[in-house]
Amino acid sequence: MRKGTFAGDRERWLAVVLALGFAVGACGPPHPAPHPLTEGDGGSPAELPPPPQQATPAVPKTLYDRLGGKEGVGQLIEAFVQKLYGEKRLNRAFAKLKKDAARDTKFREMLAEQLCAETGGGCTYAGKEMKIAHKGLRITNAEWHVFIEKFTEILVERKVEEDDQSEIFSMLGKMQKEVVLK
Ligand code: HEM
Repeated sequence: MRKGTFAGDRERWLAVVLALGFAVGACGPPHPAPHPLTEGDGGSPAELPPPPQQATPAVPKTLYDRLGGKEGVGQLIEAFVQKLYGEKRLNRAFAKLKKDAARDTKFREMLAEQLCAETGGGCTYAGKEMKIAHKGLRITNAEWHVFIEKFTEILVERKVEEDDQSEIFSMLGKMQKEVVLK
């Protein structure tokens, strides 16, 4: 039988009990971590951030928008008509129009409305069909090219992108056979 003092046994038991207690404490259920959204600094619950916004897909700009919308197209047509009227090679074609205020105003309005309609501006062109509008004017191919030359000058002056210029010219090109009549 092993000999020992009561005091010695008691110390050993104490050591075992302490060690067990420590171990249980260390392995006990973990303290829940403070919730980052509701328990900021231990004071009142922090406000929840707003839910993430759904990104609105960007609506692509129309050619009309890129030309400056109503104002830009209006300025473009005004500048264009000034050029047409100042061009000697187009005197024959525009001589009567220049002197007739009502026809001149209508011409400018219809050009702007047509350009708006053709470039996605949402207008409805209410003017005459190209064949009808130019009937009897006997517009030649040479005059057609001067008209396009003047339009090009305006687009360049207004710094319209080359891709947009191409889009406009392909649109105008389709009307050539209705404007230039044999
Ligand atoms: C694609 C090229 C062209 C377009 C988009 C165009 C467009 C128009 C438009 C919208 C009108 C007004 C129609 C209306 O009154 O209802 C018009 C009239 C007229 N256009 Fe053009 N045009 C083009 C080419 C030309 C050319 C090359 C000339 C001459 C060089 C010309 C000379 C005229 C004249 C003189 C009128 C006035 C007719 C009138 O009031 O009786 N156009 N054009």
